[in-house]
This record gives sequence, structure tokens and C-alpha cells, in this order.
Amino acid sequence: MEKKYILKIKNITKSFGGLKALDNISFNVNKKQIKALVGPNGAGKTTLFNIITRLYQPDRGSIEYDQKNLLSYMPHQLIRLGIARTFQNIQLIDALTVKENIALGLHAKIKSNPLSVVFGLNRKEEKEVFEKTERVAHFLKIESFLNKHPEQVPFGIKRLVEIGRALISQPKLLLLDEPAAGLNENETERLLNTLFRIWERGISILLIEHDMEFVANCSHSIVVMDSGKKIAEGLPSDVMNDYNVIKAYMGE
Ligand SMILES: Nc1ncnc2c1ncn2[C@@H]1O[C@H](COP(=O)(O)OP(=O)(O)O)[C@@H](O)[C@H]1O
Ligand SMILES: [Mg+2]
Repeated sequence: MEKKYILKIKNITKSFGGLKALDNISFNVNKKQIKALVGPNGAGKTTLFNIITRLYQPDRGSIEYDQKNLLSYMPHQLIRLGIARTFQNIQLIDALTVKENIALGLHAKIKSNPLSVVFGLNRKEEKEVFEKTERVAHFLKIESFLNKHPEQVPFGIKRLVEIGRALISQPKLLLLDEPAAGLNENETERLLNTLFRIWERGISILLIEHDMEFVANCSHSIVVMDSGKKIAEGLPSDVMNDYNVIKAYMGE
């Protein structure tokens, strides 16, 4: 029988020294779902992303992705599996153009050395990278910035470039770590619109966000974490009225 979920996180626990950053976290991300992971600072959200993307090893628990044991894979294999992510702190390379930064997202599919996507391709590969980059830029409506360097483009565009670098590998699951942080109202609106258009393409999205209002507008299901524990999960309308959630947010 085909499974409803693409990602199944089960009993994931992770400590750093005496600090339990994740305490027995379990939830699923369904196929073609936008799922949000929210919670106050230090709740453990990014740590969970780092475990999913194999940068950290959990102390306990399992993660099933697309019917595979995700914990048996290495970070560099994730792009091929169809998982791509963005980072909480924008990680673009200023020495490269926007176009080249987006192309970097393909490296794991074409060449093993990241910069070879920009500098070491043959004609055929170059054409493929060029066409894919153009297509992603068109989708994100950032074509006019392609030849600029990151420092020359507005903050909201940098965020989209990061998303472009993740999208160019054609992921099945997209992980976004606080994509709305620091955006103004127009940029936030544009991001929401972009998320829906990504979702329309059949990509599952797991999104970390601090702002409850933002996730209420864009997600099908929300997981709320506080101090390493899952304290609520469900529809945005239910979660936002949950006593424990209100308490966790009031305490901030
Ligand atoms: N590599 C690490 N070493 C030690 N402590 C860490 C590390 N990564 C995260 N932490 C700690 O784990 C807790 C959860 O952090 P994090 O996952 O970044 O929270 P969030 O993303 O929800 O704000 C914090 O107390 C943080 O200081
Ligand atoms: Mg974080």
C-alpha cells in the first residue's frame, strides 16, 4: 500500500552535553503537504533539521524518508534522495553571481566538487546547468538579478536565491529554516505566494517558523515544540487555541 507520508520522524532524541535539545520527537510530513515546525527560540527546531539533513546524529529514534532509512545516509547523498534545505542564516557566496549561487544546488547531482558546477563543466553540462538555472529564476521571478552578486540584491531576493539553490535539484521534500525571518510585508507576501506555487508542483514542504501568524496562513498542519518537546500538533486553528501553546508563547 502506498504510504501517505514522505517523512516519518519517530522518537528522535538528541542531547548536547547535559542539554536535551530534542526529547522524543515524533511526527510525519505527508506527501504534498506544507507542514510547519514552530516554537520559541531554542526549542530544537534547527537541531531537528540538522538531524534530518544528516549533519547531526541523533542519540535515539528513527527517520523514514520515501520508504528508506534516512539515518543510514550521509549529508552529501541527500540531494540525490530528493531532499534540499535552506539555512536560518543565509549562506550565499558573495564571490559568485546569483546565477552561480543557484547552480551550486546542482553540484551533488552532476559533480562532487561544489565549485566544479561553476568552473569545471563541459559544454553539454554547462548548457544543462544554464537552462535549469534560467528555469528556476523564471519560476521565482528573479531573472533580473542573475548576474548580480548577493551583496547587490535586496534581502528578500537573497532568501529567494537560497530557495532557488534548493529548488534547482528538483527535490521531493524541501526544508526551509525560517524563510520569513527579517522580511518586510511585501517580501513576506511574495514568499507566501512562492511557497504555494512550490507546493502546487507536488513538493512536500517542512518549514521552520517563529511567527505563528505566518504559519497559520500557509500550512496544512503545525507541530509546536518547546524546550525540545513536542507540545502540540494539528490544524493551525486548533494549535493556535491550544493552552500549552499559548503558555509557551506568552512565556517568551
Ligand atoms: N551544536 C550544538 N552544540 C551545543 N548545543 C547546541 C548545538 N546546536 C544546538 N544547540 C542547543 O540546542 C538547543 C536548541 O537549538 P536550536 O535547535 O538551534 O533551536 P531553534 O532552532 O528552535 O531556535 C539550544 O539550547 C542550542 O543552544
Ligand atoms: Mg533555529
